[in-house]
Amino acid sequence: MATVETAESAVSEEGGVRRRDFINIAAVSFAGAGAVATVFPLVNQMNPSADVLALASIEVDISAIEEGQSIKTSWRKQPIFIRNLTAPEIAEANAVSLDELRDPETLADRTTAGKENWLITLGVCTHLGCVPLGAAQGEVKGEYGGYFCPCHGSHYDTAARIRKGPAPTNLVVPEHEFLSDTVVKIG
Ligand code: FES
Repeated sequence: MATVETAESAVSEEGGVRRRDFINIAAVSFAGAGAVATVFPLVNQMNPSADVLALASIEVDISAIEEGQSIKTSWRKQPIFIRNLTAPEIAEANAVSLDELRDPETLADRTTAGKENWLITLGVCTHLGCVPLGAAQGEVKGEYGGYFCPCHGSHYDTAARIRKGPAPTNLVVPEHEFLSDTVVKIG
């Protein structure tokens, strides 16, 4: 048979109700403390370890990269192209009107002031992620003299901007700063 709690029965059990409330509150408090105790180690485990933090940025000596040359390196497990543009390559990039570009950016937007010859990009095609050609000596650079992605035929110009093919955007320029004339920090 169902029991119906009335005001009268609640009053008659007032002492018991209070005791039960206390037990409930104590149980909730204990559960709360347990939750904090178990969440903290989980959050702590999710913090990056020292070796991961060290990989967050790299320093690259660029002193041996001559004008017209480029190198491939890697950062956060992704290929990076560092290219020392020639004066004609810089002029070619600057001669392009932004109206002609699918992803309008100037060479100046993509490089550091006073160091426009240093073009630093991810070596990852923005279409489906292949590694474009053009950074290693003798590799085909595509119709615009920058990089060429052989997977589906994307052509990037001398500022690594997309000019032809299916890639939607320019090669990504990672955050970087020059620590000196010969050392650049990426990340
Ligand atoms: S992945 Fe580069 S063109 Fe498709």
